[in-house]
Amino acid sequence: MAVGITCWTVFVLLGVSQNCFAEEANFAYQLRHFLGVRHPEAPSNKPLTEARDYIKEQFKQYGLDLEINQFTTDIYTNSQKNSVAGENIVGVARGHAGGPVLLVGADYDSNLEQSPLENNGAGVAAMLEVAGSYMAATRQQYRRASTVLFVAFDLNTKEYENTRVRYGPPGSYHFLHQWLWPFINQSVDNFAGAIILDSITRFSTENSSQHLPRGFETAFREANQEIRTRGKKGDFLALFSTGSSAAQHLARTIIANYNEDPKASKLRLQELRVLTNRSVGDSLHMFNHQAQFHFWTFQPSDEPMSLPAVLLTDTDVYRKSGEVCEEDCSVEVFLTQTRQDALGLVSTTLTNALLQLQTAGGGSTGLTVAPAFVVSTLVASILVLFNW
Ligand SMILES: *[C@@H]1O[C@H](CO)[C@@H](O)[C@H](O)[C@H]1NC(C)=O
Ligand SMILES: *[C@@H]1O[C@H](CO)[C@@H](O)[C@H](O)[C@H]1NC(C)=O
Ligand SMILES: *[C@@H]1O[C@H](CO)[C@@H](O)[C@H](O)[C@H]1NC(C)=O
Repeated sequence: MAVGITCWTVFVLLGVSQNCFAEEANFAYQLRHFLGVRHPEAPSNKPLTEARDYIKEQFKQYGLDLEINQFTTDIYTNSQKNSVAGENIVGVARGHAGGPVLLVGADYDSNLEQSPLENNGAGVAAMLEVAGSYMAATRQQYRRASTVLFVAFDLNTKEYENTRVRYGPPGSYHFLHQWLWPFINQSVDNFAGAIILDSITRFSTENSSQHLPRGFETAFREANQEIRTRGKKGDFLALFSTGSSAAQHLARTIIANYNEDPKASKLRLQELRVLTNRSVGDSLHMFNHQAQFHFWTFQPSDEPMSLPAVLLTDTDVYRKSGEVCEEDCSVEVFLTQTRQDALGLVSTTLTNALLQLQTAGGGSTGLTVAPAFVVSTLVASILVLFNW
């Protein structure tokens, strides 16, 4: 982090811009560790184990406390049930003043069909950049008040299964039940929210490059209007949230920080708020296989305990990419200016949001800790609605 320190020295001296993170980010370097297919049925398990080792190494280098959440789940190979072992990798930035825990997470495995860089190497690269920047910043001007967790999830089985058989629960589900719930002392009040990055580099400025499934117009009325007015272009990053006050607080903080970046005018952020009183139809499949869904539908016992979470995504298969990257494209081909801009925007935005929400002492805003209360009954009815 030698470069980061230079940047922060300048920042402390001038005391002005918070935007020194993205300039220093070396996404190409990060992405080189996520080139190979990372899936239990991949020809070699080397890309997966190397990615694992790399993430652990980075977390330690940034100064995070490293914790591993091991789990097993079931997948099907030629209709044969197979138990596979996975590792969720957790980097803990412990706060010194208590307060609700905030989390940034991304799946680090890949499926057998898509580019391992796009889904979801880029999401992991951004998460790692945020972790490094946050730790560098909180060694300098800012003081860590509330705890932040950086999490790389393994085995997103929801993206492996075919339509006929249901696979075992994904890594994020296991992390939530086995690791996070005890960590927050089984209290929703101790959790400020999860920010999930899942496929964040697929864009197109062509008309009709964004597919909107049946039900989208009723589920997301305002967004539907806006996207159609602009020619159904896949030129935006989507922020899926819920209507709970904690999720909204998180979403508003992210949106405000995002729009402060001059690059936001090139790549807008579109909020898609999942409201329980609206029918979602087929648009459910846009957001039910990523990690945030398990937070929304969390039910540790009989009682649903919806946890606040938001998802940042390019909408993945619902968008025709303007810059196609074949399954084995190189980092140099992958990292176009648009993708570089997107990764920079996301990293800067989230670092600033974390500094605003979880630290004390240096912030330019009065906000230090997110209100922890959650209208859990409202969001919990998502459970019923989605027949989970
Ligand atoms: C959980 O409880 C322990 C013991 O009282 C406390 O030290 C810790 O800070 C609590 N964790 C959270 C996330 O509030
Ligand atoms: C794209 O869509 C917009 C909005 O519907 C329209 O005004 C524009 O003419 C379209 N452009 C092309 C090249 O079709
Ligand atoms: C649906 O819920 C939202 C947020 O809770 C509320 O603002 C809106 O008025 C409700 N709409 C209907 C049709 O009940």
